[in-house]
Amino acid sequence: MYYLFGLIGYPIKHSLSPWIHEQFMKQTNTRGEYTIFEIEQNADFKAEINNLRQKNIKGFNVTIPYKETIINELNDIDEQARNIGAVNTVLNLDGKLIGYNTDGLGYVKSLEKAYPSVKETDPNILLLGAGGAARGIYNGLKSSGYLNIDIANRTFEKAEKIKQTNLVGRTKILTLEEAESKLDQYDIIIQTTSVGMKPKTNEQIINLDKLKQTAIISDIVYQPIMTQFLKDGKKRGANIHKGHTMLLYQAELAFNIWTNQQIKMNDMDLKLQNKLEG
Ligand code: ATR
Repeated sequence: MYYLFGLIGYPIKHSLSPWIHEQFMKQTNTRGEYTIFEIEQNADFKAEINNLRQKNIKGFNVTIPYKETIINELNDIDEQARNIGAVNTVLNLDGKLIGYNTDGLGYVKSLEKAYPSVKETDPNILLLGAGGAARGIYNGLKSSGYLNIDIANRTFEKAEKIKQTNLVGRTKILTLEEAESKLDQYDIIIQTTSVGMKPKTNEQIINLDKLKQTAIISDIVYQPIMTQFLKDGKKRGANIHKGHTMLLYQAELAFNIWTNQQIKMNDMDLKLQNKLEG
């Protein structure tokens, strides 16, 4: 069996997903290839997806700007992806396209890999930002049993919308200023926006003056891996959680959906870190 996998999005020429999935294929002796399919904004999206279906592609990942658009082309969608309202992984089951979202659960897996007993402490979690990434992580955490998750965002309505996607547990909405002043109430603080990403690497979404020393500071930005936010948290004695590990675990869950194979991460985390740092 020779498998075709791929990624759709735009622009995605520099994506690390092909490298990650090639490592997974090697490890599991899966014969196949993972290809980049850039779809420009003015292309016939439906035709492009049908083209993939006809190629007998086994599965593909979906990234910006198509995580919501793809839903119209699917035959079915799983519950997690429906709750999030976005799909990052598609399985082709005999011509029927089924949508999943592995971003949220990938995030949770990466967090628990780094801090194995974190859930048992029933942590108070603060999400910074309320875009697509925050939506995925919020639902991933809630469906994994993390119940106390507050959201701080510049735009109140966007945070309120996320809260409505999952009503289990409790969630308060804060301004970014309130988040700064109440930071000592939180055990895990997750930065889900693009603030701090290359080239604006000296930007930081909130100050960490009130950070608890025992807290975990997490950033989904991975270019650079050590963002200003993480550096600041580390300087204050907090634990840190790096963004590239989410990329790795969302890919692992996608590979499992396509092939039923379990991946052993071994040193892949370090390998990816080295690759990102050149
Ligand atoms: P993604 O899908 O990658 O999460 P997005 O949907 O554009 O991206 O969401 C970006 C999030 O980052 C939003 O919550 C945005 O805040 P608003 O809801 O107020 O727009 C937040 N964000 C982006 N730049 C920001 C900045 N400079 N300061 C604070 N928040 C920012």
